[in-house]
Amino acid sequence: MNLKKTIKYLGKDVKPAEEPAAEAPAAEAPVSEPVAETVETPVAETVETPVEAPAEEAPAEESAVEPAEAPAEEAPAEQPADAPEGAPAEEPAKTETIVDVIKAKAAERNKKIVLCEGEDPRVVQAAAACVKEGIARIVLLGNAEQIKADNPDVDLDGVEIVEPASSPMLNAYAALLYELRKAKGMTEEQARAQAKDATFFGALMLKVGDVDGLVSGACHSTANTLRPGLQIIKTAPGVSAVSSFNLMVAPACGNQYCEDGMLVFADCGLNPTYTAEGLADCAIATAKSAREIAGLEPRVAMLSFSTMGSAKHDLVTNVQEATRIAKEKAPELTLDGELQFDAAMVPSVAALKAPESKVAGHANVLIFPDLQSGNIGYKIAERLGGFQAIGPICQGFAKPLNDLSRGCKAEDIVCAVAITALQA
Ligand SMILES: CC(C)(COP(=O)(O)OP(=O)(O)OC[C@H]1O[C@@H](n2cnc3c(N)ncnc32)[C@H](O)[C@@H]1OP(=O)(O)O)[C@@H](O)C(=O)NCCC(=O)NCCS
Repeated sequence: MNLKKTIKYLGKDVKPAEEPAAEAPAAEAPVSEPVAETVETPVAETVETPVEAPAEEAPAEESAVEPAEAPAEEAPAEQPADAPEGAPAEEPAKTETIVDVIKAKAAERNKKIVLCEGEDPRVVQAAAACVKEGIARIVLLGNAEQIKADNPDVDLDGVEIVEPASSPMLNAYAALLYELRKAKGMTEEQARAQAKDATFFGALMLKVGDVDGLVSGACHSTANTLRPGLQIIKTAPGVSAVSSFNLMVAPACGNQYCEDGMLVFADCGLNPTYTAEGLADCAIATAKSAREIAGLEPRVAMLSFSTMGSAKHDLVTNVQEATRIAKEKAPELTLDGELQFDAAMVPSVAALKAPESKVAGHANVLIFPDLQSGNIGYKIAERLGGFQAIGPICQGFAKPLNDLSRGCKAEDIVCAVAITALQA
C-alpha cells in the first residue's frame, strides 16, 4: 500500500500548484481554494479539523495525536440519473484515509506496543481495538482484575495485562534503572520505587526489548510521559536531541501549495529552543519520518524570517548554521535554507528570492526555528488553513515512544499505536 499514492488520491481535487497569474510576493493569492466548489469525495472524516477549541485544552502539556473530530454525517448515496426506479442507490467508493493506511502498514509489522495507563478507559478501549483490528500486539499496564471490573463491556481477549508492582520483572528492571541513573544520584531504593511507576516500567520494558514501542500520556503530563524516555531510552545514535513532528493533511478541497496532499512540520511540540546542531538533527529526523511514516519524498525547508541572507540576526545565523550542518551530515537530502515561509512554499516568490534552490517553492517538510514558531505555525495551518494535524509525534528516540494529548479519544490512541509501530 502506498501512502503517498493514497494521499494524492485524497487530494485529487487539489488545484495544480500553478502560479497565480501575475502574482507579486507582497500580494498573496488565498492559500486554499473555496471548499464548496471542489469537494466531491466523502473524505470529510479524514481531513476534518476541529472548529472549536477542545474543552480542556492545557497548552503547556498538550501533545501527541490531536483529538480527531467526530466524522461528519455521511450524505446519502446519490442515485445516478439513468438508474431504474427502485434500484439500490450506488454506494460511493469508501476512500481510504491516511490513518487507515498507517494502520494497515502497522498491521503488517505485528509489533508489540506497551500502553502504560490501564487506569484510563480510553486506553483500555484502544488496547482492545488494536488487538481486534490486528494493528499491534498490546501490553497494557495495570491491575488485571481492576481493569476488567472497570471496563466490563470491553473484550480484552488477546491483550496482555501486566501489573508493574507485582511483575516478576520488577527486580531486573529496578536494577537496570539503578545502573542507568546511579551516576545522576539515584539510589537502589529510589530505583525500585520508580520502576513501579507505570511509565518508567514501560520505558524499561522498551529498553530491554520486551516491547517494541511505548504510548502514554492520556492522563499524564507531557513532561512526566517523556522524562522516563529521555532518561532511559535516550536518543538514537548520532541524534543530539529528541524532537517532534506533525503530519499536516491538506483539506479535502486541496491546497495549491501542497503538492503531495500532506506536509510535515517540526518541531511543534517538544524542544522550546534549538542549537544549530539540534535543529540540523531535527531536520534530518523529520525527513526520515516524512519518508517512513508519510511516504513522502522529502524536500526540506529550514524556515526563518530571512531568505538566503536577506536579513542579519543571531536567530538567522542559527538557522544558516543548522542548514550547513544538516547538509554536511546528510548530503543526500533535498534540503535548503534559510527560507522564509513564502519562499519555501510559493513558486513565484521562490523564483524571486531563491532561484537556485531545489527546495524553494516546493517544500513539503517545514523545519521551524523553535517551538514558539512551530507550535503557532501548525495551529495557524490547522485553524485557518483547514489542515488536519496529526501529532506531535516524537522522533529521535533510540526506540519509539509517543506522548498522547490528555484530551485524546480512544481512536487517537489507536492511531498513535499504529504510528509507534511504524517507527519500531
Ligand atoms: C521535553 C521536556 C518535557 C523535558 O523536560 P524535563 O524533564 O524538564 O527535562 P530535563 O531538562 O530535566 O532533562 C531530563 C533529561 O532529559 C534529557 N533531555 C531533555 N530534553 C531532551 C531532548 N529533547 N532530547 C534528548 N534528551 C533530552 C536531559 O538531557 C536530561 O537527561 P539526563 O537526566 O540524563 O541528564 C521539556 O523540554 C518540555 O517541557 N518541553 C516542552 C513541551 C511542551 O510544553 N509542549 C507544548 C506544545 S505541545
